[in-house]
Order: sequence, then structure tokens, then C-alpha cells
Amino acid sequence: MLNGKRVLLIVAGGIAAFKALELIRRLRERGCSVRCVLTEAGARFVTPLSLQALSEDRVYSDMFSLTDESEMGHIQLSRDADLLVVAPATANVLARMAAGMADDLATTVLLATDKPVLAAPAMNVRMWTHAATVANVETLRRRGVHFIGPNDGAMACNEHGPGRMSEPEEIVAAIEALLDPGTVSEQARVLAGRRAVVTSGPTREAIDPVRYISNHSSGKQGHAIAAALARLGADVTLVSGPVAVADPPGVRVVHVESADQMLAACLAAGRIDVAVCAAAVADWKAATPANSKIKKKAGAAPPALALAANPDILAALSTPGPKRPALVIGFAAETENVVANALDKRKRKGCDWILANDVSPATGTFGGERNTVHLVSDAGVEDWPTMAKEEVAQRLAERVGRHLGVVRPAQAAE
Ligand code: C5P
Repeated sequence: MLNGKRVLLIVAGGIAAFKALELIRRLRERGCSVRCVLTEAGARFVTPLSLQALSEDRVYSDMFSLTDESEMGHIQLSRDADLLVVAPATANVLARMAAGMADDLATTVLLATDKPVLAAPAMNVRMWTHAATVANVETLRRRGVHFIGPNDGAMACNEHGPGRMSEPEEIVAAIEALLDPGTVSEQARVLAGRRAVVTSGPTREAIDPVRYISNHSSGKQGHAIAAALARLGADVTLVSGPVAVADPPGVRVVHVESADQMLAACLAAGRIDVAVCAAAVADWKAATPANSKIKKKAGAAPPALALAANPDILAALSTPGPKRPALVIGFAAETENVVANALDKRKRKGCDWILANDVSPATGTFGGERNTVHLVSDAGVEDWPTMAKEEVAQRLAERVGRHLGVVRPAQAAE
């Protein structure tokens, strides 16, 4: 519950601003009070009147309004809140936040606040992937701003990709994770006190400074698992290769590129109770990546690409010894003989459980929203029905909780 919590909702100018109305409704249903700051551009998409009606509070928009300032100074606005939520967070507002500008009431409040800030980005896919926005988001993340979304999908501008603002329910869940981690009842937080590492996404192996070997993994399944473990109370480190999906809330994320970096980040997490290797690690890397771009030479044969094996992260984490996590889980992405190959893989890698899934192109698993998996453990093979990757994640996290319930927690990081 968010009973008695206070959110200052900053509505900037984007087509997604209409979702802010639904967000207010959802927050109020949970007992959270909402006060709105509407930017000038935001007012082109939603009216102060609708925000006021739903929040049952006055809407602030003008920094130089004597009434605004005398009733509620801009410093007081942020002091009075438990959390500032920027939804939609447009490319423009993120840029102004990153630059530390204070040229309207919204940015002034954001600069003056000592409260946590959650941003729900919403913009055209090219704006989201533009180097300027990427750098701004990185800067803001480093300063402690939390992000939810954006989601992938069709956009108002007829393009497709990441940039859609998260749905109001997802934003509410992120707000709950920040303001009321106890929302999930203590009983449901079966992984409290447990430490987890999850690998996710592809790895990228440099051939030279501009070329690389990689694969189509989206990171959706691994990220969903990290989020699900965190919801059950685990202290989660997500080691992610380059992906377009956003960092899940409540999770420590280490961004890496190569398999070597991914392994190092997993080992740096120290003692853990559970490791879930969902990353699609490239099997090979260039044996000797070139330091400068390999040049095409007219008439010459293409250069030979010598490969070297990458470390097997799953096998490394499964190595028996005092530091081995109590539970190591791997994935087997197969295009044929899914279960037979998974049984064999479980033995070869030395892990405890394997989630086997069919990734033949017809299933649409890679990059898709749904997954059909089989859980292979020493108890045998369990076939799970086809479900959303989030549901697979939730079910797996609950199984991990039940399994670890009878195992002693690992000691803190060494
Ligand atoms: O051998 P294969 O790539 O099919 O094994 C898949 C499982 O092993 C996945 O859990 C994947 O995350 C993990 N893996 C790994 N490091 C590698 C290769 C695979 O952790 N180098």
C-alpha cells in the first residue's frame, strides 16, 4: 500500500501525457496523494483542469506566479513529497535535468529536491537511442535517478522500438518498489537476505574497434528474472550485456560488453546464494582483436578471422567448492531435441537446474514476449505452459524461494 505517501508528479510535454491521468487514478486508489507540476509543453497535451480534478489538488506550473510562490514555494513543493515522478520524461526534460538547468518550475523543483526521483521516459525511438539521450540517461542514473521503461512497441509516430512510456500499472509498481518495498508482504519476501546474480542479454566480442560478434538476445527474460527475484526480497546484481530493455527497478545493474567482462562482474559480486545465467554468451571471441579498423584492400582476399573460446560463465559458477552458490541455474536455448540436449547440458556444465527453451525462429522466443520452457533438475523434467517472460520469471523466482528456504544463506561478499 502507498497509504499516506505523497508523490509530486511532473508532467512534461509528450503524447504519453494522457497516461499521467490514469497514473494519478491508480496512485490515489492506493491511498497515495498526488500533486502535479505541469510544464508549458505538458499543458498542450493535458489540461490543468483534468490533473486538478483527478489529484484533487491544485496544479502548479508557473515559477513566477505570486500565488503559486506564496501558497507553496518551489522548494517546499519537493520537500512536501516522498518521491518525484517525471511522467512522461521527454528527451527535452531529461536533457535539462542532466544539465542541471532550472528554467521552469519542473526543472527547478527537480534541481532543488533531496527526494528520490523516478523518470518514465517517453519519446520517439530515434530520440531515445540518440547518443545525447543515452549520455543524459547515463548521467542521471549515476546521480541516482531511477528509471522505469521505456517499453518497446509501436509508437504514435508510426515507428517501432523502445520509447513508449511504461504503462501506469508498471509505473505504480516501480513507485511501490521505491516507496514501500514492504508492499510484498514479509511472507512473500521469501528471498530477503539472499544474494543473487543474474546474467542477461548478449555479449559483444570485438573484432576491431568498429566490428563485433554478437547475437539476437534481447535480455527480456534475464531482466524479468532479476526483477522477479528482487520483488521476492533478494539482493540482486544483474550483469547485462548490451540490450535495449531498461534496467529493472530495485536491482543493481552492471553493464558489460564481452564474456570476459561478464565473468569478471559475476565473480566480483562475491558470495551469492543463487546464480541465474540467462545471458546468451558468445561462444567465441576474436583470438586477437585488432587495435585499429581492419582495412579492405582492393583485390586482396578477405582477412581470416581466428577465433578463441570464451570462458563458460555457467560452468565457472557451477565449479564445486566452498564459494559455489547453493543454486546455479542455466538456460539451454535449443532449436531441436530441446529436453535431451538440456539433460546433457546440465551434466556437462555442473549446474543444478536448466531452463530449456525452443528458440527455433518459428517460436519467436528471441526478442519475443512469450516463452515455452522445461525445467530440468535432478527431480526430472517439468514442462511449463507457454507464458509471458514475466510469468516464467515469477514462477522461477518462487521456485528458487522454495528451494533456498531450506538452505543456509551465503555469507556477505568477500
Ligand atoms: O553451451 P550453451 O551456450 O548452450 O549453454 C547455455 C547456458 O550456458 C546459458 O545458461 C548461458 O547463459 C550459459 N553460458 C555461459 N557462458 C558461456 C556460454 C553459455 O554462462 N560462455
